[in-house]
Amino acid sequence: MKKLNIVLFGPPGAGKGTQSTFLIERYGLVHLSTGDLLRAEIKAESPLGIQAKELMDQGDLVPDEVVIGMIRNKMEAHLDAKGFIFDGFPRTKAQAEALDGMLNGKGEPIVAMLALEVPEKELVKRLIGRGATSGRADDKDEAVISNRIREYEAKTAPLKDYYGAQGKYKALDGVGTVEDITARLVKAIG
Ligand code: AP5
Ligand code: MG
Repeated sequence: MKKLNIVLFGPPGAGKGTQSTFLIERYGLVHLSTGDLLRAEIKAESPLGIQAKELMDQGDLVPDEVVIGMIRNKMEAHLDAKGFIFDGFPRTKAQAEALDGMLNGKGEPIVAMLALEVPEKELVKRLIGRGATSGRADDKDEAVISNRIREYEAKTAPLKDYYGAQGKYKALDGVGTVEDITARLVKAIG
């Protein structure tokens, strides 16, 4: 059976993590979030975590080779997965090309890039709101949140064209209740 490999795309605070939990349950997929993997490295105080923390706390992207290596390891650990939800990866053209290289080589390409669209004002509101309880250093400071959004616009948003050229890009309204947005995603997956 064809693997359901999906890129769940969107700016910081768009709801990628929230929606991933519903989609992995519904379709039996494996969730691959580079942000979660990096935060686990920080918690473990590994050399990689120590290096990444400085960049993440400022809202800057970590180097491509770091996240590509993490994704490769996780995919190899789940060879029998029905599919993957990629959350927060790829974030640059180099990452997207590396991912295509890994998946296309196995005949298991990305089937869709589903992009959650949320206005910047709402993103900031959500992230500041979460900052009160999440313990995420990058949710506390409005300047860091702005930098995360700038990084997204400069380096990550262009991937809409990358996947668009492959006929895989689909934009979805990311504003509404969590349930509404899950329903939109399920409809798009079809
Ligand atoms: P990462 O962990 O990926 O964070 P992010 O993309 O900035 O986004 P978030 O996780 O904050 O948002 P989300 O879209 O998952 O939304 P969520 O569901 O949590 O990356 C963190 C950092 O790691 C990066 O800045 C970078 O430094 C590094 N990094 C990670 N991946 C990398 C890569 N590939 N390359 C290089 N560097 C990388 O929701 C947000 C909030 O909104 C929550 O409080 C939630 O409850 C709420 N919410 C969700 N849905 C709704 C709704 N419908 N209505 C109202 N509130 C909602
Ligand atoms: Mg997330």
